[in-house]
Amino acid sequence: MPIPELFHGRLTLPVIGAPMFLASGPELVMAQCKAGVPGVFPSVNARSPGMLEEWLVRIERELEAFRAAHPDAGVAPFGVNLIVHSTNPRLPEDLALVVKHRVPFMVTSVGKPAEAVRAVHAYGGIVFHDVTTVKYAHKAIEAGVDGLILVCAGAGGHAGTLSPFAFVAEVREFWSGPIALAGAISSGRAIRAAEVLGADFAYLGTRFLATTEAHVPDSYKRMIVDHAAADILYTSAFSGVPGNYLRPSIAASGIDAETLVETPGKPALKMFAPEANQPKAWKDIWSAGHGIGTIHEIRSASEVITDLRKEYQEASGGQPSEFIQP
Ligand SMILES: Cc1cc2nc3c(=O)[nH]c(=O)nc-3n(C[C@H](O)[C@H](O)[C@H](O)COP(=O)(O)O)c2cc1C
Repeated sequence: MPIPELFHGRLTLPVIGAPMFLASGPELVMAQCKAGVPGVFPSVNARSPGMLEEWLVRIERELEAFRAAHPDAGVAPFGVNLIVHSTNPRLPEDLALVVKHRVPFMVTSVGKPAEAVRAVHAYGGIVFHDVTTVKYAHKAIEAGVDGLILVCAGAGGHAGTLSPFAFVAEVREFWSGPIALAGAISSGRAIRAAEVLGADFAYLGTRFLATTEAHVPDSYKRMIVDHAAADILYTSAFSGVPGNYLRPSIAASGIDAETLVETPGKPALKMFAPEANQPKAWKDIWSAGHGIGTIHEIRSASEVITDLRKEYQEASGGQPSEFIQP
């Protein structure tokens, strides 16, 4: 399995903690890394470049201190997610900070990764890119990415429509590099299934929303715990790009989901230019993937990872694993 050198001997599970707009901050990322799962946050979750730099310094220092205090533990590297879409006004400044701090791992999404790849490779970091189609997988490989994140049907955030069975198999016909599989993976059994399909990592977002460290209101966490896949709506109406949203949060914003107008293929991502006086995707209309049905409690990220590890080991039938035992 082509796991990048950066992760060797530092992970306790083949899992990446996926970046989530508004929800992922230093607390969640550090809790994931300390438990042996690389945590990634979107750069724009820090309200300004100045705050982003503070976060980077804090995460670097705290993880370094934790590594020194626990030399035998699997402490994972962290990552930053850059939304490389032309409508992201923070892109140049945030990329410059990632380079300045030599952030080991970058995830690029919603746009073209070539410039970020050049900048990150120059200091020895690695870049994984989010793709929802085989065509975009080819383009990302041409741009020189180190890994592909295959975002399938049922994923939280901006999701694809492909089945993971079809997507991984097609991409494996032309790409032998690292693959992270995303979409409704909420259990250790599903993590093992992602490996069996041919992926190297499972990429989990929604599973970490109902954690004490996620920066979302408690009512959002409770909505995840109290609902299931049938309560998720796939629509492009809120952000211009199709994504999965919790139906009860749409109703709570006074919107009748039946009246939503699809707006696929819009040139601008509305997350950087929301319309005035409209409920905002992510802040008011809450995103989650199909995997919510088996999330029954709000717990700490480290407890979630401990559970996932037990489930993964059971599903692996006791086979020896290359991952660190904490
Ligand atoms: C609330 C929420 C916000 C998200 N925001 C981002 C984001 O800012 N950047 C990004 O690349 N992906 C974002 N995603 C997608 C995740 O990184 C990941 O692809 C997805 O959560 C995986 O599917 P799962 O939620 O079913 O585990 C978001 C997902 C959720 C649930």
